Amino acid sequence: MGVCFSAGIKDKSPFHRGSNSDVEDLSPSNSSKVSCVTPTPRSEGEILQSSNLKSFSFSDLKMATRNFRPDSVLGEGGFGSVFKGWIDEHSFAAAKPGTGVVIAVKKLNQESFQGHREWLAEVNYLGQFSHPNLVQLIGYCLEDEQRLLVYEFMPRGSLENHLFRRGSYFQALSWSLRLKAALGAAKGLAFLHNAKTKVIYRDFKTSNVLLDSNYNAKLSDFGLAKDGPTGDKSHVSTRVMGTYGYAAPEYLATGHLTSKSDVYSFGVVLLEMLSGQRVVDKTRPPGKYSLVEWAKPYLAHKRKIFRVLDNRLEGQYTPEAAHGVASLSLRCLSVDPRFRPTMTEVVKELERLQDPKAARPRRHSSHGTRPGKHSTGNLAASTGSGPAAYPRPQASLCSK
Ligand SMILES: Nc1ncnc2c1ncn2[C@@H]1O[C@H](COP(=O)(O)OP(=O)(O)OP(=O)(O)O)[C@@H](O)[C@H]1O
Ligand SMILES: [Mg+2]
Repeated sequence: MGVCFSAGIKDKSPFHRGSNSDVEDLSPSNSSKVSCVTPTPRSEGEILQSSNLKSFSFSDLKMATRNFRPDSVLGEGGFGSVFKGWIDEHSFAAAKPGTGVVIAVKKLNQESFQGHREWLAEVNYLGQFSHPNLVQLIGYCLEDEQRLLVYEFMPRGSLENHLFRRGSYFQALSWSLRLKAALGAAKGLAFLHNAKTKVIYRDFKTSNVLLDSNYNAKLSDFGLAKDGPTGDKSHVSTRVMGTYGYAAPEYLATGHLTSKSDVYSFGVVLLEMLSGQRVVDKTRPPGKYSLVEWAKPYLAHKRKIFRVLDNRLEGQYTPEAAHGVASLSLRCLSVDPRFRPTMTEVVKELERLQDPKAARPRRHSSHGTRPGKHSTGNLAASTGSGPAAYPRPQASLCSK
């Protein structure tokens, strides 16, 4: 969940070391330059009462997570740690591990700056939406200083882990699973953008895309979400918040937020999925710190996009499909927001690209032998393997 840090990037657990998932106040002065946060339409009491969410007691959740045991930590973000727990599906009371329903419990760090605002935004937005591509919020706990959120458990964790973590548990996603995840996440964003009261998500990144057991993608973390512009307004003005690398340039420059800001972030994630590389990574050679700046010139050229593609995907896509996804990412990354597609258009295009005819594996003649391949940042070694559901995980210079 996004948190506005008043000073610097917050330390992360080893789970997230080197991650670009740190959410910050990105305004140049890091001050409350523009305050203009759209007034919350409902009071805290109204939000909590009107949601269909279960109100848990702190002791319920303490029991469900076995006293927030360190070995049940699923991950850690700016908001706090996320624990695995078990509850009875009817009574919602704590259940024995391995019985009942598995839940993920996010516990706000006491010192988390702006944590309460984000906690409430999560309840406000996720509490009123139900969609296959949004993670289900089951309930919350508000007791003294304690603030927790209870979600459905997403067994495959975050897209971030599947793309960037190396190891036997998190294997690199195949081409078709990457497309499936991209399409699911795109549907989630399209749903928000087309809702009666339009919502801008504002924190789209790989760590906020969670995967269920069938790799269906669901968006989590609505702490930074905002109501979209109403009437004849073209944008909402906000303090610039988000995550380095994912925020749209015009939003960074002006604080003007539109749904096209989310489309830009989606283009960044699509590029990370194509390349298997993080949007910002200072362990790469200096010209390649910024994935977007480095990769953009290659995305438009059918013959050059292979310099950007993740070697672990070799043999799993057709050149047409790769070109299609690269072009889509490039359009989403347009500097002028007017040239970016809507999320509905993105969904249509990804559905088209998922067509087996577009995605049929076919070896590209020059792929794997092109000169200068490793010098252009596609850092994992080539396997030369044919199509496979799970390409072998490989060492990469940009692993965490
Ligand atoms: N419902 C869930 N089911 C399973 N794992 C989860 C769930 N929610 C979160 N996680 C895990 O916990 C990690 C931390 O989540 P969290 O949303 O707190 O932070 P983040 O998104 O990684 O970072 P940030 O705070 O910058 O947004 C996720 O990356 C994911 O691995
Ligand atoms: Mg998150």
